[in-house]
Amino acid sequence: MTPATFRAFRAATGGDTIERGVVALTAADLPDDGVLVGVHYSSVNYKDGLASTPSGKVARISPMVPGIDIAGVLLEDAPGFPAGTEVIAHGYDIGVARHGGFAEYARVPAEWLVALPHGLTTRDAMVIGTAGFTAALSVIALHNAGVTPERGPVLVTGATGGVGSAAVAMLATQGYEVVASTGKPEGAGYLTDLGATSIIDRHELSEPGKRPLETTVYAGAVDCVGGVTLANVLKKIHYGGAVAASGLTGGADLPATVLPFILRGVSLLGIDSVMTPIDHRRNVWARIGADLRPAALDRIGHDVSLDELDDVLSGILTGSVTGRTVVDVRR
Ligand SMILES: NC(=O)c1ccc[n+]([C@@H]2O[C@H](COP(=O)([O-])OP(=O)(O)OC[C@H]3O[C@@H](n4cnc5c(N)ncnc54)[C@H](OP(=O)(O)O)[C@@H]3O)[C@@H](O)[C@H]2O)c1
Repeated sequence: MTPATFRAFRAATGGDTIERGVVALTAADLPDDGVLVGVHYSSVNYKDGLASTPSGKVARISPMVPGIDIAGVLLEDAPGFPAGTEVIAHGYDIGVARHGGFAEYARVPAEWLVALPHGLTTRDAMVIGTAGFTAALSVIALHNAGVTPERGPVLVTGATGGVGSAAVAMLATQGYEVVASTGKPEGAGYLTDLGATSIIDRHELSEPGKRPLETTVYAGAVDCVGGVTLANVLKKIHYGGAVAASGLTGGADLPATVLPFILRGVSLLGIDSVMTPIDHRRNVWARIGADLRPAALDRIGHDVSLDELDDVLSGILTGSVTGRTVVDVRR
């Protein structure tokens, strides 16, 4: 049961204009299918910024409650999940083609639910969220490709962002030597606290280079920047190393040659969090609650209310956000 009305942050992104802010919704505004979740927390991801602006071309319905991440409690029984179970849901159509987590209530198909793993609160889960889940997929993919801590340092690009922060912390927890690339010199202390052993300036990687290969430095990399940065990272990976690529904050193109692949056996590992099959998603979350749990989780997250979302959604698209913004929908 929902109250007569509840609070939600809603964005209408039709045409070139945008209308967004906190509104009162009723149960009839939620999708017809799925189980009712009392949302505790959501979070702000780069994709939420895109879904809340017309030029982002991410929202497939309008008006929509954005929020690709949801953590809360089931208010109805669902197959395999009794009412009262604390759950996580993210990806698939959530916050893109159906209302997402920026509301006090949501309806989510039962087959998209993940039971909250032991070792995490619903807030912890949203400090991690889609960004941290993507970081976990990246760390697991690197390890499966043979990039183990003894092979050498691992580079993380976009390191102060959501995916980057979680990747730095998870890699450090796993015993890797982590080099963090950032455009925020003031973020150096934050990254060191998360476990980075050294910091480099993002501009070292963002200018097009003339040489197709460079001296190798890293056993692997977690890249959420793409573009010239990813092309430059590939040139610096040791023989047999790998790069897990998940993002495009620096561009969707890849101005690279095949030489790192065919002369050094470097692997480019594609990372997608949206359509990750549910069984794998649940297994990865179980690991996030256990061996991949970032030791410095408390330093990554900071909370906002629904009323403060407008500014945060604008800021994440300019790369100005550090760490993870947790949305306390009941505040
Ligand atoms: N594949 C997937 O399933 C998946 C899942 C989640 C996210 N993503 C993608 O991953 C990327 C990061 O997402 P996020 O939520 O972590 O975003 P975020 O919190 O905004 O972090 C992005 C970081 O990238 C860096 N950056 C920003 N603009 C840049 C530029 N022009 N050139 C180089 N670096 C730049 C900044 O870090 P510094 O200042 O420290 O350099 C920024 O904090 C996005 O493209 C997002 O769409 C993909």
